[in-house]
This record gives sequence, C-alpha cells and structure tokens, in this order.
Amino acid sequence: MTYEQEPLMEGFKVKNQNMAPQGRLQIEWASNHMPVLAQIKTKFIEEKPLKGLTLAACLHVTKETGFLVETLLAGGANVALCGSNPLSTQDDVAAALAQVGAKVFAWRVQTTEEYYWCVERALDYNPTITLDDGADLVSTIHDKRQELLQGVKGGTEETTTGVLRLRAMEQDGALRYPIIAVNDAYTKYLFDNRYGTGQSTLDGVLRATNVLFAGKNFVVCGYGWCGRGISMRAQGMGANVIVTEVNPMRALEAAMNGYRVMPMSEAATVGDIFVTATGGTSVIRKEHMTRMKDGAILANSGHFNVEVNPKYLEELATSKRNVRPNLDEYTLKDGKRLYLLAEGRLVNLAAAEGHPSEVMDMSFANQALCVEHLAKEDRMAPKVYTVPKEIDEKVATLKLDAMGISIDHLTEEQQRYLTTWKMGTA
Ligand SMILES: NC(=O)c1ccc[n+]([C@@H]2O[C@H](COP(=O)([O-])OP(=O)(O)OC[C@H]3O[C@@H](n4cnc5c(N)ncnc54)[C@H](O)[C@@H]3O)[C@@H](O)[C@H]2O)c1
Repeated sequence: MTYEQEPLMEGFKVKNQNMAPQGRLQIEWASNHMPVLAQIKTKFIEEKPLKGLTLAACLHVTKETGFLVETLLAGGANVALCGSNPLSTQDDVAAALAQVGAKVFAWRVQTTEEYYWCVERALDYNPTITLDDGADLVSTIHDKRQELLQGVKGGTEETTTGVLRLRAMEQDGALRYPIIAVNDAYTKYLFDNRYGTGQSTLDGVLRATNVLFAGKNFVVCGYGWCGRGISMRAQGMGANVIVTEVNPMRALEAAMNGYRVMPMSEAATVGDIFVTATGGTSVIRKEHMTRMKDGAILANSGHFNVEVNPKYLEELATSKRNVRPNLDEYTLKDGKRLYLLAEGRLVNLAAAEGHPSEVMDMSFANQALCVEHLAKEDRMAPKVYTVPKEIDEKVATLKLDAMGISIDHLTEEQQRYLTTWKMGTA
C-alpha cells in the first residue's frame, strides 16, 4: 500500500500513532529548556491572540517544533503541519502533535513526491498565516495553489536559504503576501545559526561516524553564521580547521580567527571530514571528489541537499553500500572510498536531533511573536520584512531573565553624553 492509497486518519498522517506517549515526553523535555517560549505560551493561554486563525507550518518536526506548535494551539490557532525535510521528522513528536489536535502530515524518510504531498495536505486547510523553513509553502502557494492567496495574510520564514528565495521573489515582483524573515532577527541567527548549528552539526557527524575529531583536517565550506559555529566547535574538539570561502571579508575573518583558508581544490586533497554550510549549490563537485583521500567523510549542514550533490558521487562510484545508519560508502573506480552522511541532507537534523532546545527557544519565541504580530497587522504590503526591533529585544531580555543574568542600564548622565555633540576631549 502506498501513502496515497492509505486512508487519511482524521486529518493527519504520521508513521505510527502509538509513538505519541514517547513524543509527549520529548516535547516536555524540550519545553523544560525553552523558558522564553513557555512565557509566551502562558500569555497566549490568557489572551488567545490567534483565536480562529488557521496556520500552515512547514518546519522540521522536532521536539522543539512540538513545543512551538503547542504554543500556537494554546493561542487559539488551528495548526496544519508538514516537515520541511524528508529526513528530519521525529516520528514520535509527529504522533504526539496529531494527538493534541494538530493536523500533522509528516514522517521520517520520504520521497520527494511524498514530501510535496504533505506540503499540499497542510495547505488544504486554507491557511491565514504560513510558517516556513525553506520557503516551500510560499513557493507552492504561488506556483500551484494560487486560489489560496486571497486568504493568506502573511507568513514567516525561519532560515537563510528561505529568506534568499523570498527576497528573489520580492525582487521579481512575484511575492504576493508579506513575510517576516525570522532568520534575520539577531536573537535568531547570531545564536541558532552559530551555536545551534555548530553543536548539532558535530553531533550529527559523530552519531553517524563516531570518528575522533582530534588531529583530523576538518574542512568547513562557507564561513557564514553556521560555518563560524561549526569551525569553532570543531576546533574546540582538537580538529585542524580549514575554511573555504568565496567572500573575501569572511575569508579574512576566518584567517584572523586562526583557521587555514584555501580554495576547495586544495582543501579536497588534505581534508578528512568536509562539512558544507553555504546555502549555495555544487560546492563539492566531481573534480574535488576525485582528488580526495581514501576514507574522506562528506556532510552538509546547508538547507538543501545540493551542496555535496549525491548525484556526483553516484556518477563517479562503481559501487555503493550502506554501512551504518546515515552513512553510505561510495567506492570509486580507483578503489577509493568516500563516505556521504545522511544523503547530503542537513546532517544535524537527519543524523542527530537538530539544534538544542535552548537556542530554538529564541528562534521559536521570535516565530510565535511574529505570528502574533501578523495576526494583529492589517496593512502590510507584500514584501520581506525584518523582525520588529521590539520583538528581537524582548526575546533577548526574556532570555537573559530566564538565564538569571542581569545587566547594567545607562545612567541619565551617560544617556545625555551619548546623545550630545557638545562634549569632546575633556
Ligand atoms: N543545519 C541547520 O540547522 C541550519 C541552521 C541555520 C541555517 N542553515 C542553512 O545553512 C546555510 C548557511 O546559512 P548561514 O546563515 O550560515 O548563511 P550565511 O549567508 O551567513 O553564510 C554562507 C557563507 O557561505 C559562503 N559561500 C557561498 N558559496 C560558497 C562556496 N561555493 N564556497 C565557499 N563558501 C561559499 C558565503 O560567502 C557566506 O559567507 C543556509 O542554507 C541556511 O538555510 C542550516
């Protein structure tokens, strides 16, 4: 029986409903480490700011997303949820969310066809607001489901790649409803992309391989917010980090942070472990793969599975076998073996559990407050907006409070000093 032939179970399709109790424990564990979102949930329970709204969310279905969905439900919304990657859904969490009334269409290990089937089922609920991680809801609505456009008030976008796609749509004049770029909040990308991706990417590589990092040549492709975090954490575990970049400022920053910087053609010959995090495509290509050492490990932490394109490995290899979960061995003509993790998909989500709850606390606090903002606003033009400064600052303040950290405040004299042009050399 295929997924299409199976009857839909009362508005959801998950792998196994019996996994709900385990998923509930996972969400509870995440929520214990998400104090900012917990405060927002309490406020949502009292005020019901999302009452009567239908939200469609295309997010990695993790335990942290579970707590976000529960927060949105607590605010009075109906929520339809699909996964934002064929390999990232935690099936127990999906089951637990279906049990509390979310319309969940997600399971781990999907074909591309199944993935988009789930996207379309979430959209069948006629959303007023969309929450995306990679812009697949927005692009599907604009390409195939234009009848939904008149009912959509706005949307949010979680990641760098999604924001890039949406800005391209805006520039082409194609974007038909407003989007808040949650990714661009300081309390999102400075923490989630850096510390979250840094820690969880290493976690993914370790769970898939269990290799020792100390002493290895660890190549990080792209020194953006994710790349900075991955490099920092790999160095912390004793790896010799090599950075490849196309942006001279970022390359310079990497060099001054103590990493070796070189083109991919050189890095290919010396690297033991390669991780891409560029948001671009075909970063590691055939000409690099053929120059790699026997046993080289390849992983990707960028949004789409095109940075280390598995197609190139398929074309070069004479044989392929699965060695461990999320670890495929490709043998090339000359007998050399290359190892690809999680089919080149986001290694931290496919081979581990994604970001730790503490960073998702801030990312998803931004999501919840931006959804509330969209619910209240009536006259936003179809553009990509940054997160309102008040929301970003509120999230930072709540997080500091939750961490038991207090900070100084400017005195009146200091405030005057900083705003006058009359005081100079004393
Ligand atoms: N794994 C996760 O959980 C996770 C979390 C956040 C973001 N992301 C994704 O990671 C990717 C990177 O995000 P970011 O916030 O770090 O973006 P960013 O824009 O800050 O950094 C990307 C960097 O890659 C560089 N780059 C581009 N093409 C390159 C190439 N061919 N070779 C070497 N360097 C190249 C750019 O110059 C830039 O410095 C995006 O796809 C984003 O959606 C993943």
